[in-house]
Amino acid sequence: MKAGAALLSLAALMQTLPATAAQDAVRARSNYIHHCTGCHLMDGSGVPTKGIPSMRNTLDRFLQVKGGREYIVQVPGVMNSALNDGDIANLMNWLLPYVTPSGLAPGIRPYSAAEIAGLRNSRPVDFDGTRRRLVSELRKAGVTIAE
Ligand code: HEC
Repeated sequence: MKAGAALLSLAALMQTLPATAAQDAVRARSNYIHHCTGCHLMDGSGVPTKGIPSMRNTLDRFLQVKGGREYIVQVPGVMNSALNDGDIANLMNWLLPYVTPSGLAPGIRPYSAAEIAGLRNSRPVDFDGTRRRLVSELRKAGVTIAE
């Protein structure tokens, strides 16, 4: 059932992507390898003991709390990368299902280049504090994520 739900939500996500979805996925994966795996590792499990959080089955949880959708693309590793807004949107739309083998919650809106461009102008100063606030809001909602 869980796998079925994952397939359904992936199918829903794919429908909202352009016809070149397969090419976009190849490009996103390649960008992930070149720009992110040095810290986050290939499977997104990171190095939590060194402050690099695991994204596995947790990244999509941030989308459930106010400010989380913004936070996960505003972190320095994403916005300070050499990737342009379109590539960041494409990468995040690929990354969310990729690091969520347990299945994405339904109804996740894909990122667009325009949304990423807008979020560049409103980045938090204190990422640690922002993350702690989001994690504590998630905890109140019954979702536990490592600090
Ligand atoms: C130099 C190491 C480094 C690189 C490279 C890097 N990150 Fe990160 N990332 C971190 C650290 C450390 C954090 C924890 C928040 C912080 O301190 O910025 C983080 C947090 C995140 C988060 C939020 C996850 C959470 O649970 O808080 C996301 C999403 C993310 N990174 C995605 C990416 C993507 C996508 C790339 C490639 C474009 C990338 N990162 C490149 C180190 C890195």
